[in-house]
Amino acid sequence: MKISVVGCGYLGAVHAATLASMGHTVVGIDVDAQKVAHLNKGFAPFHEPGLDELLRDGFATKRLTFSTDFADAAGAQTHFLCVGTPQSKTSDTADLSYVIAATKSLLPHLARGAAVVGKSTVPVGTVDMLRGILARRPDVLLGWNPEFLRQGTAVKDSLVPDRLVYGVPGGKDSAAGAPVTAALDAVYEPLISAGIPRLVCNFATAELIKSASNAYLATKLSFINAIAELCDASGADVTELSEAMGLDPRIGNRYLHAGLGFGGGCLPKDIRSFRAQAQALSVPSLDEWMGVVDSINLGQRARAVDVARDMCKGFLSGRTVTVLGAAFKPDTDDIRDSPSLDVALQLAAAGAHVTVTDPKAINNAWMRYPQLRFEASTTRALEGAELVLLLTEWDEYRTLSPAAVGSLVRRRMVLDARNVLDARAWRAQGWTVRGLGTGSHDETSEPLTEAKPPVVPVEPLNTRPFIVGSPAKAPSTRR
Ligand SMILES: NC(=O)c1ccc[n+]([C@@H]2O[C@H](COP(=O)([O-])OP(=O)(O)OC[C@H]3O[C@@H](n4cnc5c(N)ncnc54)[C@H](O)[C@@H]3O)[C@@H](O)[C@H]2O)c1
Repeated sequence: MKISVVGCGYLGAVHAATLASMGHTVVGIDVDAQKVAHLNKGFAPFHEPGLDELLRDGFATKRLTFSTDFADAAGAQTHFLCVGTPQSKTSDTADLSYVIAATKSLLPHLARGAAVVGKSTVPVGTVDMLRGILARRPDVLLGWNPEFLRQGTAVKDSLVPDRLVYGVPGGKDSAAGAPVTAALDAVYEPLISAGIPRLVCNFATAELIKSASNAYLATKLSFINAIAELCDASGADVTELSEAMGLDPRIGNRYLHAGLGFGGGCLPKDIRSFRAQAQALSVPSLDEWMGVVDSINLGQRARAVDVARDMCKGFLSGRTVTVLGAAFKPDTDDIRDSPSLDVALQLAAAGAHVTVTDPKAINNAWMRYPQLRFEASTTRALEGAELVLLLTEWDEYRTLSPAAVGSLVRRRMVLDARNVLDARAWRAQGWTVRGLGTGSHDETSEPLTEAKPPVVPVEPLNTRPFIVGSPAKAPSTRR
């Protein structure tokens, strides 16, 4: 089956490559010519484990291509809309202009009886609005198929999803919805045969399933972060508390890890959009709820800065600080609404000399925040630090040796804002360790002795340093 995927970002590129791996002939369409050129060379324009391989497999079978020309989507039986729905610049609502523009661009190229299926996360009522744009084409089928993949595991999540949700006209078992259900069943036949659960519902339900799922995940994270604050106030340890809570199967331990909170291109804007929907539909309890979840989450960033200041005896100004992590979470180079960079900016604004490092997100972070200093080498980033902040829990930071890092820094002080380090092992090497909610607020903030001068590298020293603010020194890694 010929399929088009419109919008080839973190969602669309993975979706296009996955559909090609299922045996379909897929053309990915994007308005970003640079992104399309990268994809056509078989490289993902962003870091997503396994995607390069999936793209190359797609090209090898000649079933996968990318284009900037909507005319190349002509003849496809199904068109997936995967464009962005960011937060509006002026309110909490989702900006639907990309969805509208993509639908209008597709319109002249739609074959008779083709299906247009949205995958972007949209507010309830969006499909009704798009129906207006497609009003002159009553033969065209319209469906909504929200996506649940997670960056970092997007390839696996797409090849073996937890579930498939189809929003169709009239919902489950309706005659009007049957052709859309049949069209999507034909697309996902390998997944359905493999037993992946498939749920058919009406448009409003499909639109809300995705928003409600993200709102629940955000709620769970903000809940445990509020408990973390209580732990800090009482001397309890939130990591032990959440481990014990999570063993109750009714609760579970996923998304119950206290720390710096969530960011990225989805959860923050989705809970704000959900809040705006609750306001528009007069559901004040949900409006209030989402507001609290959002403010607890943002509050974690301010708390991290407060703890850092406390560790520096109240004065961040002039302190040499190293931030480990720029991406909003590990295994991605996505820095959209990154809690780490938010904290780094706040520390810099307080007068600290901040150096940020990250295994994959340095380029994106530098382009977005040229006022910060970046360093590609973890070793060089750590040299001379008076305070280290672990803000994105990449594996390479979780497994750092406290002895090796101790030989690089000026003072052995670490704020583990993701609560992932073995604090006992670090303390055994003379480190002052603080977390968020780990009840270690009564520790001595400043170590009594200065650390030894740097001698032990934590990674090969041939990694080129990269100092932001001088574009000529930008690393030449592929984007
Ligand atoms: N990133 C995720 O993990 C994820 C997971 C589930 C759902 N979603 C949802 O998927 C949607 C896309 O998210 P993303 O993270 O892939 O965003 P993204 O910004 O990475 O990608 C969007 C792409 O759409 C392209 N685009 C914009 N306007 C276009 C147009 N008129 N025609 C063709 N292409 C156009 C952009 O150039 C960009 O490449 C959002 O609604 C998001 O909430 C994302």
